[in-house]
This record gives sequence, C-alpha cells and structure tokens, in this order.
Amino acid sequence: MKEYFIQNAKAFVGETVTLKGWAYNVRKSGKIWFLLLRDGTGIMQCVVTSFDADEASFALKDEITLESSVLVTGVVKAEPRSPGGYEMLAHKLELVAIAEEYPISKKDHGIDYLMDNRHLWLRSKRQNAIIRIRHTIIKAIRDFFDARDFTLVDTPIFQKAATEGVATLFATEYFGEKAYLAQTGQLYGEAGAAAFGKIYCFGPTFRAEKSKTRRHLTEFWMVEPEMAFYDLDMNMDLAEEFVTYIVAQVLEHRRPELETLERDTSKLEAIQVPFPRISYTEGVKILQKNGVDFKWGDDFGGGDETIISSQFDRPVMVHRYPAAIKAFYMKRDPENDKQVMALDMLAPEGYGEIIGGSQREDDIEKLISRIKDDGATEEDYSWYLDLRRYGSFPHSGFGLGVERVVTWICGLKHIRETIPFPRTISRLNP
Ligand code: 4AD
Ligand code: MG
Repeated sequence: MKEYFIQNAKAFVGETVTLKGWAYNVRKSGKIWFLLLRDGTGIMQCVVTSFDADEASFALKDEITLESSVLVTGVVKAEPRSPGGYEMLAHKLELVAIAEEYPISKKDHGIDYLMDNRHLWLRSKRQNAIIRIRHTIIKAIRDFFDARDFTLVDTPIFQKAATEGVATLFATEYFGEKAYLAQTGQLYGEAGAAAFGKIYCFGPTFRAEKSKTRRHLTEFWMVEPEMAFYDLDMNMDLAEEFVTYIVAQVLEHRRPELETLERDTSKLEAIQVPFPRISYTEGVKILQKNGVDFKWGDDFGGGDETIISSQFDRPVMVHRYPAAIKAFYMKRDPENDKQVMALDMLAPEGYGEIIGGSQREDDIEKLISRIKDDGATEEDYSWYLDLRRYGSFPHSGFGLGVERVVTWICGLKHIRETIPFPRTISRLNP
C-alpha cells in the first residue's frame, strides 16, 4: 500500500499524489485560493486555481471550514517560500466532513480553556512538535537499553506495598484487599536484575502529588534500569551516557520541531559526557555560598535545585544524600552511616531533577531496620527480602521521568504540555 505523508514531500516531488488531512488555514484571493493542509506529519500549502482544479473543487472555497477533513490530489513541487518548503498544485479536492465552528482560534486562549480542549489542542503545531519530540525520546530510551543487552521486564501497576513513601499513594479496592497504584517498578526490577542481569521497566507511574507545581504530574512515565553488580559510580556512568544519547537523538531527528518551539539548541549541544558529579554535602555548600539559609540534612527544594544546577552547563549528578530524606532501599554509605549511596541528576537551565536512583541496600539486617524505621514490617516486604536471602548481590539502578526530560529538552515552562492527556491534582478530563 502506497501512502503519502507531508513530512516525506521531498520523495514525491513531481508526482501526482493524494494527501489526506484537515484544513489548517484557508486564504482566498479572487481566482486563486490557498489551503494549508495539515496531515499530522506536516503542513502543505495547496494552491487551488480555476484553471487547474475542477469546478466543484474550486467552489469548495466558500464551503470549507477550519479543521474540515479533506482529500487533496495534485502535483507536488519544491517551493522555498511556502511553509515546509513544498507546495501542491491541486487538481481535485474531496470534502470528507465539514467541521463545525472550531473552538480554538488564532487568538490567545487561557491555559484552562486550552486544557479543557486538550483533545483538539493537540492538533496545533506547537503541541504536535512537543509530542513528536516525546516520541523520539521514548524511542531513544528503548534503543539505548536494547542495544546494551538489557531485557525489558514489565512490572505490575497494582501493588501491595509502598515504595516511595506513603504520602503519595493512590489506593484502590482490589477484591476485598487494598491495592496501590505503582509509584515505581523498582522493587520488581531488582528481582528482574537477579533473574536477567541487566533489565529495564518502562511504564506509567502514579503519585498523589498534593501540591500544584510546574514539575509534577499525578500520572507520569518512568523508565527504570536495574543492573546486577553495578556500584554507584557505574550507575552514574550509565546515567550520563544515557541522557547524552537521548539529547543527541532529538538533535538528530527533531530539528524542525525544536525550531517550532524556538528552543536554543546550543544549550542542548553542550550536553556531552562527562557530567559534573558533586556530593550532597558539596551541594549544601553551593547553596550556602549563594546566601541560602540551608542546613545539612534538609531536602533540596525546586529553588535550591535551580541554584545548584545553574552552576553548570550540563546536567549535574548529586550523590550521597542524608539517609533520613531518602527511600528505605538505598544502600548505606560504608564511609558515613548518616548517608546513602543515592544519585539525583539535575538538568541545567533550572529544570530540576530528571533522574533519581541509588545503589541498593544488599545487607538484609540494615534493610530490615530501615523498613521498621518507616513503620512497616518485614512481612510487608517479605518477597523483596528474599532477594537478599537468596544470593544477595551489589546492584544499582535509577528512574528517569519522561515528562521531566521532555520539559527540559523542549524548553517548556510547565510539565503539563509534555504528555498527550496530562493528569494533575485538578485535571482528570479530557
Ligand atoms: O526520584 P524518584 O521518586 O525515584 C524512584 O521512583 C526510584 N524508585 C527510581 C529508581 O531508582 N528505579 O523518581 C524518579 C524520577 C524523578 O527524578 C523525576 O524525573 C520523575 O521520576 N518524577 C516525576 N515526574 C513527574 N511528576 C512527578 N510527580 C514525578 N515524581 C518523580
Ligand atoms: Mg527523586
């Protein structure tokens, strides 16, 4: 089956083809009219004249409305002055369905209105660019791990125990028991690492984030590699190579989209290994030097992350955090019992945390004592503790939040545009 899409116009210059799409814009001037046709892959200027098009097609100029669906047959030629660099001389237009008056116009709509119309807003050039970049990022994620012999291990969404703290759990009824929506696949990923060596899980994760911020969704996609016999340094090596690869793939395949978003690509071109690595303690010193009233032991807030990351032109990896502010499964620093072998990666330009990870606690006694400190029981994590009972092994991993990375790479102010249908504290529809 031969199909023609606007993004491939170069390949069918000179041919007579049929393009299928929607009317993005209509401009009339006497004996000639111009239809900007949108097919999801690009925009083609179709020139309709009474000489080249049949009478019924030409007459559509008085009938066609914005977002009407239409098939246009004609000859494509290169035209540097038209959007996208090509133009079609139309011979025949077939109206598929007339659109009612389209709710989104060129005028500035408020963000709530646009979000209420998210199902239509996705058709806009800007949203199209963002979601296509998202697509490339997800493809790069899969390609990166697949090329390095990682096995995909899918992890459950209904889970019985908390992993990233009880404050952000979504609970649901599960045939007479309580289940929680996954905050992470990590604990299952660790079982996968013992079974397959190097694995990744990749799926939607859920956090009942009660604060309204530019960085939080209640449903977001996370990819989580987990590697047997990796220590914290190897974990950081992998993380920086991974993020560099993702950025390079977007630069290679999505230049036009980055241009639509007016992204300063020189900032992305600077993303090269090695990334700076600083300890949490060094991070605290940076904050204090910048006049922030910050004590060792506090957690970094969004503003603190911005100050730390703005010292560097590429992502910075912050390691060895106070145990008290990190999850129970992180390995104690053998050199300082107050610290854990954690790793956060902060994106440049103030975009904040894009990766959270650690080396995992492989000492069963230490792990049990952390579980109890959190007010949970051994019972709650019995299968997870088995991973330490039957051949405990050093291992490490991290989670990268897809929407955080899309926000940063696209240079957006808010995370809500990075996923087709965002879920936030105040949005469940559409
Ligand atoms: O730092 P987090 O909570 O780490 C974990 O969940 C670990 N279990 C991962 C692992 O080691 N396998 O989350 C990881 C990343 C964050 O760095 C951030 O990019 C993203 O997930 N993230 C969110 N993205 C959007 N909205 C939220 N509410 C997010 N919470 C975390
Ligand atoms: Mg984190």
